[in-house]
Parts: sequence; structure tokens; C-alpha cells
Amino acid sequence: MNRSGGSIFESINARTLTPLQVSETFVPSAHFADLCRRRHSIVLGPRGSGKTTLLKMLQPSALESWKHVDAGNYVNSIDFTGIFVATDISWSKQLSLLGRGVLEPSIAQLLSLACFTTHALKAVVTAFQQRMGIGNSQSIRDIGRVKLVPGTESLIDSEVAKTWHVVGITPSFFSLRQAMTRRLLEIREVASREAVLGSVGQQERLADIPYLHLHFLQAAAYAIEVFEDEAGISAGKWAYSFDELELAPESIQQELVSSIRSTDERFLFKLALNPFTSNSYLLQAPSSPAPGQDFDQISLWYAERRSARAFCEGLWTELANQKGVKDWTPRAVLGGSYFEAPSEESEDERAAYAPGSRWAKRFKALAAKDQTFRAHLAQRGIDLARLHLMDHEVRAAEIRKIAPIVALRDFYRKGDEPDDEPPNSARSRKTVRPYVGADSIFALSEGNPRIFIGLVGVLLDIAIRKGVLPISPSVQADQILETAEKFSAMLRTIPVEPSRSRPSIGVIPLLRTIARYFHADAIKGDFKAEPCGSFGVDARTADDLLVVLGQALNAGAIIYVPDDEGQIIVTSLRGKRFRLSYLLAPLYGFPIRLGRKVALSSILGTSQVVPTDAGPVQMEFIERDENA
Ligand SMILES: Nc1ncnc2c1ncn2[C@@H]1O[C@H](COP(=O)(O)OP(=O)(O)OP(=O)(O)O)[C@@H](O)[C@H]1O
Ligand SMILES: [Mg+2]
Repeated sequence: MNRSGGSIFESINARTLTPLQVSETFVPSAHFADLCRRRHSIVLGPRGSGKTTLLKMLQPSALESWKHVDAGNYVNSIDFTGIFVATDISWSKQLSLLGRGVLEPSIAQLLSLACFTTHALKAVVTAFQQRMGIGNSQSIRDIGRVKLVPGTESLIDSEVAKTWHVVGITPSFFSLRQAMTRRLLEIREVASREAVLGSVGQQERLADIPYLHLHFLQAAAYAIEVFEDEAGISAGKWAYSFDELELAPESIQQELVSSIRSTDERFLFKLALNPFTSNSYLLQAPSSPAPGQDFDQISLWYAERRSARAFCEGLWTELANQKGVKDWTPRAVLGGSYFEAPSEESEDERAAYAPGSRWAKRFKALAAKDQTFRAHLAQRGIDLARLHLMDHEVRAAEIRKIAPIVALRDFYRKGDEPDDEPPNSARSRKTVRPYVGADSIFALSEGNPRIFIGLVGVLLDIAIRKGVLPISPSVQADQILETAEKFSAMLRTIPVEPSRSRPSIGVIPLLRTIARYFHADAIKGDFKAEPCGSFGVDARTADDLLVVLGQALNAGAIIYVPDDEGQIIVTSLRGKRFRLSYLLAPLYGFPIRLGRKVALSSILGTSQVVPTDAGPVQMEFIERDENA
């Protein structure tokens, strides 16, 4: 996947932010509370879900300068020092390019590990500096700053430099960090030299470079011990945090997992990666039998829309604050949603369903044009003229539950013969209309901060510029459409994996097929109280498709709905349940709710997918340019 691409989604990224910048806007979530525990953690999240941000927040400088109203509680609960290692593309590429194809795999691996170790050790020095408050002028609290008496820094540095095989520096943390940067260049040089010199005498030459044989964890542990001893502080926990782990070479991923199993009490590990990984190494970690060594798995997505609500509200408050409109509520700015159910207060609710009310009209309108809905009402013994007189409980079960489906169906159906065109053939403000309003926009964001900031931030700017609240539905619809289109554009950049089936399947054609199925099930077919909204990857799903689904999952285009809360890491998609990202709903007109589960092979079987009876299911997608 293109990680450095230029869409707005990419520009809202914590990768380049300093700890101070991250802390300036950071909104805590339940996930952060989990991460703050004195436990090993694996943070799993799709693009933009805030993985980098969470790990960066564990750094001393970030915690010291974090001003959020709830900051104190979180900070006080943290009793470890975060060491942040950005396992980002720049060095993983660097590693994989090292002498590629020329060097023996074992040599290439040795050099890769040396690069990794160097990055990891540089991060330790940064953590020391942060513990001392170096470079943090905006600190508002002391989280155990270390004060070194004169001369101690050079003492620590000399000792550490000796073990890390650094020579010729004036001992200071600053030069030690620089030495690590220099070492990265040296490793590249070694790789290129070895590629030329070949294998004769190679073992000896490499054996002579001592730093190539450092073990990152032992080297880090020793440095920390020296630091703590010389500073006169008691031995604490250090949380080694590795971001974008999926980009690291497999040998390094394995190295990390085996380190976690090591018994060094000093370290916690906080690892961030995509939800889908084809490696099974990580699964071994959670099932590790060693008590207390287990991982907490922290998943940054919300299978149920209501669980994202609190975090969205937090993000809203933060954005409104930043923009100087802290008293503006989501409802005041975005209005109520199209599907908004009346409050459950019986008086209000009765009024909401009384003849002539908005909801009564919708039910009536659909009944007038949809024979299958009339049949449903008859079968359930529902009299539309008496909705407001129904028993509260019965109304909740029979009416409230289906109300959003009734509204959507009424919106998209013109008559008994449903509109044949899928809504996205003429994406327009009008077809997006049901998705405007505070509740729906929060649901569309999926509680993904990148999407939330991209969509809601822009809407707030518009509201401030216009000075009129709420923002009109058509203006909201334009922004929703734009955000959903940008999301699709990002999905389009995911390379199509070579496939045994012809032609290869892209993420977008697959999602579109599923989305249209959900639209059809809710709108076109017979009325159903609970249409399909999620799919199970069944045994008949072709292997080729699993790769595409994995990419869609990591991009946030499909959302994993675990049956068992404990199993969050997805190493095999088969047998699992997923739904589509609600951000795609306005493009395809499907309901924003979980819905019934249907087998993926049933969805594909009825669309442009042609199964053959020989061997695995063969796929044939017809890609049409719908914007043409
Ligand atoms: N808890 C939060 N509070 C406020 N803003 C946040 C929070 N989490 C993330 N953000 C913001 O959302 C954007 C995306 O976050 P981040 O870059 O951390 O996501 P990511 O999961 O690391 O994405 P990628 O998969 O692309 O690396 C950033 O601009 C970040 O500042
Ligand atoms: Mg990131």
C-alpha cells in the first residue's frame, strides 16, 4: 500500500509529530487507558486509527506537556518510561534494500538486525533525554524528572558507549544519539562493500565489526541500568514501543516476540500493527503459557457504532476547543440525524408516532408504495394509524427497531418497482441526504480520528465561516460525499495482488459488490425487519479473495466483528465476521447498522462473480467507471 500518498487522509498523520505536538491535541480513549496498564500490549488498528499517536503519547515529554482536563488521572496511572521506536517505511525499506539479491540471506539478515538495533538504541537515548526534560519547554507537570549532578552525564555516556562499541565521541547524550545515526550510514556502507567483495573472508570481516553483534535488548537494558544507577533512581519499567511493526522484516518481528518472552523484568512491550497479518508469530505471544507475560490486545476499531460514541464526543470537544467554539455541540452544528429515533420517554415517543408526525408519515409513505411492507405490517398485526397507542415494549420491538430501515427504504424506493439504478450511479447530494446529522456523521467516521478530523474539522470550519447553525443538510452532504470519495480514492491506490483468477480483483470492486448486495437486501427485495449488513468469510471464499479482504481490513474499509472478544489479531480471515465501513454507506446506500450475517460466497454468487464447478471458485469482476 502506498504509505506516503498525498491524499488528505495521509496528511492527517502523527508520523512526523513531536511528542509535544501529539500531546497538544490528544484525546484519551478507553484504548489509551488499556495501553497505560503495566502490561505488554499489542495495539491493532487500521489506517488512521491512532496507533502512532497512542505510542507517542507514552513518551515522557508528551505526558509532561499534555493539558487535557483528564490528563492527570492517566498520567498518574503510568509507572513506566516510554521508549518510542518508529518502525517506519524509511528504515524498513532501507533494511530490505541492503545488498538485496547479492548478499547471502544470513548476511543481509545480520545487517538488518544491526540497523534495527541501532534505531532501537537511539530511541533509548532519546528516552533518557526526555526523562531529564531536555527540549521540553512546555512541561506542565513533573513525572519523575531525572536530575544528574555535573559530570554524571559523561560518566553514563562513556560507560554506555563502551558497551555499544561507540568510539571517538565526547561523551554526552547528544553525541551518543548522533553516533547512532552515523552507525546507520556505516551499516549501509558495510552492506555495499560486502556486496562487492563477495563471500571470501566475509565471515571474518563481519566478525571484526563488534557492533553488528550487539543484542538490542541486552544493550538497552545495560544502558538503562547504568542510567538509573548513576542518576540514583530506583529501577523502573521501560515500555519499548514499536510502531508499524508489519513493515519490519519478519526476522525482526520474531526477534521482538522472542524478546517479549525473555524474562527481563525491566521491559514492557507495546507493539502497534495492522489488524490483519499473515504471520502467525504474534498469535503465539498471547497464548504464551508464561503467566504475566501475556499480551493485552487493544483493537482500535468499533464493531458496534455506539461504542465509538464517547471517543467521537471527545474528539469533537477537542476540535471545537481548538477552533475557538468550545460551546458548540454536535447537535447544534450538525442537527439531528435523518434516522433519529425519538427519546424513549413515553410521552415524547407517543407524540413522535402520532398521526401526522414525521415517523408516522414515513411508515405510511412506505406502506403506500411497497406491497411487501404492507404484507409485513399485516403479518405482525400493526395498524399504522395506531402506532402512538401501542404498548411501549411492543412498539420498541416492532416499530423502533425497523424505523431506520423504513426510513431508508422509503427514501430510496420510488414505488413498488424499486429504482433499478444503484444509488452510486448518480452520487449526488440527494442520495447522501439520509446520512447527514450529528449521529450519522459520528457513525460514518467509525471513531477513526483521521476520518473524524478530516470530515468534522472541515464542517466546523464551514460553520465558523458561515456563522449560521446548523449547517444545511446539502452542505453536509457535499462534505460527506467528498470524504467518502477520498476514502475510495485511497482504497484505489491499494495495489491489486496478482491473482490466479482472471482478471485480478481489486479492493474497490469487491467492496462495491458487497455494498450493492446490502443495499439491495435493505431496499430492493422484500421488506425485512433485519436486512443483511455483515458477512462471514466462509469455506467457499477463494484464497485470492482473502488477500484482498486482508488489505481492505488494514485500510479500514471492512471492520472485523469478533465473536470472541479475546481473539482480535486476525491471522486467518476464514470463519470470521466483518461489516463494511460506514463511511462507504453514503456511496452505496446501505444501512448504518450491523445487520444480519450472510456468507460472503452467497453475496458473490449473486453478483458479478462467476463460480465454476472446477476447483476453487473463479471470480470475474466487471469494473465499470461509475464516474464516467
Ligand atoms: N486520541 C487522539 N486524539 C486526538 N487526535 C488523534 C488521536 N489519535 C489520532 N489522532 C490524530 O489522527 C490522525 C491519525 O492518527 P495516527 O497517525 O496516529 O494514526 P495511525 O493509526 O498511526 O495511522 P497509519 O496507519 O496511517 O500509520 C493524526 O493526525 C493524529 O494526530
Ligand atoms: Mg501510524
